[in-house]
Amino acid sequence: MVVTEFVSAEGIFRRNARTLEYLEFEECERPVGIQLFGGDPEHLGEAARMVVEWKQPDFLDLNFGCPVNKVVCKNGGSSLLRDCPLLERVARAVVRAAGPCPVTAKIRIGWDRGSVNAVTTARLLEEAGVQAIAVHGRTKEQGYSGEADWEVIGEVVQAVSVPVIGNGDLNSAEAVGRRRAETGVAGVMLGRGAMSAPWIFGEIREYLETGVAREGMGLADQWGFIQRHCALSVARSGEEPHTMAGMRSRLMAYSRGMPGAKVLREQFSSVGSLEGLAGIAAAHLDAHEGAGVAALLTETA
Ligand SMILES: Cc1cc2nc3c(=O)[nH]c(=O)nc-3n(C[C@H](O)[C@H](O)[C@H](O)COP(=O)(O)O)c2cc1C
Repeated sequence: MVVTEFVSAEGIFRRNARTLEYLEFEECERPVGIQLFGGDPEHLGEAARMVVEWKQPDFLDLNFGCPVNKVVCKNGGSSLLRDCPLLERVARAVVRAAGPCPVTAKIRIGWDRGSVNAVTTARLLEEAGVQAIAVHGRTKEQGYSGEADWEVIGEVVQAVSVPVIGNGDLNSAEAVGRRRAETGVAGVMLGRGAMSAPWIFGEIREYLETGVAREGMGLADQWGFIQRHCALSVARSGEEPHTMAGMRSRLMAYSRGMPGAKVLREQFSSVGSLEGLAGIAAAHLDAHEGAGVAALLTETA
């Protein structure tokens, strides 16, 4: 299942037009959760009620993990990890307002190394009626650096009876299998690993079902996937240069793990058309896999 990026409860509460755009999703994305952040229990409750009525998501998710200062300053995201009574009031208000719509939450393991409190926050959230908890195994202070602490994630699994979803540094099917066996998490969540290799979900599913790791996707297939992603985005917007400029950050993520990533990133920074992308793909395949595949890909692009 997927969760939208986090949406400001204050923006929803004030019916801010730009904020409301972030609530959009397509039916094919279900089961989908809408993630809210904020620090005012009353406004969060009201925003939750509005979102459930307008969009009928499959669940609402509360963000208690965002480390970005702009969010933390306004008492949102990970700042609530330092204020457990407020975190609990927020969760209770949203659970009450969402009615039959399930509410889940995403936390980090704590504010900093000296105040790791994931077990406490998870218990409070469970008591407040939250039905699943995703734990990113880093502290707020770590941001996205260092390593995720899966031991603490395992402690949360032991402490609550709602499903716990483990998150942090999962970038292969084997890593998912290992962390699941070590901690007993009910599920896993992938961030950056999915941004550079969205096909990882198929690999994980196959590995969990068969115990055998599939060989990684070949370079030509990766390029086919990337070009299709861009073509679908252009078809959806009907506007090529602007959409391709918007796709540059996606392309940067794809380049991670590809050979010659540095050169690719330079090329991606100015790509403005599907044709331009096809040229980059052909040259890249030429350099790394031989001319035969490259010619084939240009023909089919
Ligand atoms: C560009 C970017 C945007 C993110 N946006 C959100 C968000 O809106 N809500 C959220 O809960 N986590 C967000 N995250 C955090 C990820 O969900 C995840 O917790 C984190 O990246 C660690 O997992 P990973 O090691 O698999 O990337 C974001 C991460 C990145 C890199």
